Parts: sequence; C-alpha cells; structure tokens
Amino acid sequence: MAPSFDDGNSLFNFVVRDGNGVKGMVDSGLSTVPQAYMQPPIERIDKDRARKHGHPPIDLSKLGGPEHNEVAKQIVRAAENLGFFQVVNHGVPVDLLESLKDTAHDFFSLPAEKKAVYRDDVSPTPLVKYGTSFVPQKEKALEWKDYISMQYTNDAEALQHWPEEIRDVSLEYLRTSMSMVRKLLQVLLENLGVKPEDSMIDVLVDKKMVNMNYYPTCPNPDLTVGVGRHSDMGTLTILLQDGIGGLYVKIEDDSEFGKKGEWVEIPPVPSALVINVGDMVQVLSNGKYKSAEHRVRTTRTKSRVSIPIFTMPNATAKIAPLPEVVEKDGNTLYKEFVLADYMKNFFSNAHDGKKSLDFAKINSA
Ligand code: OGA
Ligand code: NI
Repeated sequence: MAPSFDDGNSLFNFVVRDGNGVKGMVDSGLSTVPQAYMQPPIERIDKDRARKHGHPPIDLSKLGGPEHNEVAKQIVRAAENLGFFQVVNHGVPVDLLESLKDTAHDFFSLPAEKKAVYRDDVSPTPLVKYGTSFVPQKEKALEWKDYISMQYTNDAEALQHWPEEIRDVSLEYLRTSMSMVRKLLQVLLENLGVKPEDSMIDVLVDKKMVNMNYYPTCPNPDLTVGVGRHSDMGTLTILLQDGIGGLYVKIEDDSEFGKKGEWVEIPPVPSALVINVGDMVQVLSNGKYKSAEHRVRTTRTKSRVSIPIFTMPNATAKIAPLPEVVEKDGNTLYKEFVLADYMKNFFSNAHDGKKSLDFAKINSA
C-alpha cells in the first residue's frame, strides 16, 4: 500500500528504501507533487525562456574523407564553447536506438520487486545499481527520476550480471558506440597538439557505464526537475534521448551558441546521439573544452527515457592537464589527482552545477 507522501519519512522509505521509485509513487495516483520534490524557485526550469540549440547534428561519416577538417572543426568548436553537440552517422544502428528506448520503458514497467533487487545496498553485483534521484540522502529536494546503472568490465561479466531484460541491447549499444567515441577523442586531442596513441585513448575510456534513466510523468513539471544542474564527471558521455525533449545546457561564455548564463535546449533529433564533454576532458585540456552544466525538465503527459553511456579513466588513473597544453598555455588550472578521489567527491555531494570541478582547481576561491 502506498503511504502518505506528505510525510517525508514514509515517502523516503517507499520511494528510496523500498525501491518503488518515483514511478511507484506516480503509479499509486498522485495529483500534486510532494514537498520533498519541490525545488526552490531558483532551481525551477522556465522552459519558455530557453532557446533551442539550432546547430544541425554533425555528420560523422565525413571523418576521414575529403571534408574531414571541416567536420573536425565543428566538433572542436562545439566542445570549446557549449560542451554539447549532436551527431548522426555515428555507427550505432538506428533500429538499435529504437529498441533501447522500448527496452528502457519495458524495464521500468516491471514490478518494483524486480528492479529493487539492484538497490545499492542489496544488489547481488557491484556492477549494477538501481536507484532514484542522485544522492537522496544529501539532497534538499529530490530529482524526479529513477535509473539503472550498469558498469562494464568485460562481456562475460556483463552477460552474467546485467539484468537480462536490458543486457543484450545495452551491450550492443556500448559495442557499436565505442569506435565513434575514440574518433571524437582523437579529433579533440589532435587539436590540442597531442598525437594520441591508441593506448592513451584506451586509458581515457577504460571504464564504461550504460545507464537507463526514467522520468515519470509529473503533475507539476514547473516545480520539479528530472535532473538538477550538474556536469558529467567522466571523459565523454554519449546520450540517447527520446522525442520528448527537456534537456537544457547552460552557456558558459558568450559565443556563437548564445549568451553567457542562458540555457539552451538540445532538441530531440531522430536517429541522432547527443555527445557531451565531461569533467576529465575539461581538466586534460586545461579548461579549453567545456564540461557543460546541464539539467532535465519533467513533463506532465508522457514519461521520458534517456540512455547515456559514460566513459572515464580507471579509478587508479592520475589525471592532470596534458603537458603539451600546459606548456603552450604557460599555466595550469588544475592539479594532479587520482580519479578515485575525484569520484568520491562527485558521488557524495548533491548536484550543484560545475562545483565538482572545484576539487581539481588550483587556487579555487
Ligand atoms: C545524466 C544526464 C540527461 C538526460 O544522466 O547525466 O544528464 O537527458 N542525463 O537524461
Ligand atoms: Ni549528465
């Protein structure tokens, strides 16, 4: 039986501890958003004030062809300014994208008990985690989102431990994405004056995670957020979003993409994937590439799914701005750190824009 959602404790127990998620709460019949999900006014999303990002998706089939340099420039410009871009002809089959979205909907429609076995403290495997919001124990207002996260180590372990309902499409998505990710990194690194060896790229994408995010319908979308303002901590993120929309990116500096401080929506484009720069690429590039602050709105009439792949170095990797870049720049903005320490800081604090990067900043005020 669903509890009273006006009582913070019973809500927390039902949604978080017992693994019913936001979806379980919505399914129990909800006409208004519980207090625990109400964002302070400053965090609410005024969708009428955001513009749509108008740049067409970048055609990756042109990399390596006669238009290589032009396409490489588009990638670099997007990474330097907005930190976000969309790509087509990315090598991931379009029918697989459709299956992924359908599979995500099917998975979150499973009874709570089926998903709740993967809750953090009880999951039979450290590779798989099902949860809701980002760090519910730490957040002043919860995010209107449930998710499942699958860490990739190797095929055999994925086949053994990932939930069987979503395992095969997720693995295929990962397999068919990685050559694109490597090509993008190659372009970004070459532009920094680095001749990237395969082994260097291996290090940058050593760890991979496939997530499925589920944003249930919300009775008061203006009061809530699907995901609060954050940047992604890793190397590059590949994101499949469905047709609902509501992904916003903050412009860090005035540029061709808009004015500093504005939010632009990354509109759904059929068969495209969204790419965004993570904190590690911002650090390695000594701040040239922007790990963009982004967030997601909720919607009233249809649930939304998105399926990101996060790539990052191994937890034991030492990260610092690349020596080639520091030499050219004559200064370094970030100190060297061990990724595990960065991650510990990232995952133990509620989302707060790009504050995660303060961990690595030299002279952070
Ligand atoms: C994320 C994220 C965006 C989306 O999972 O880190 O930013 O559209 N997702 O769901
Ligand atoms: Ni993100």
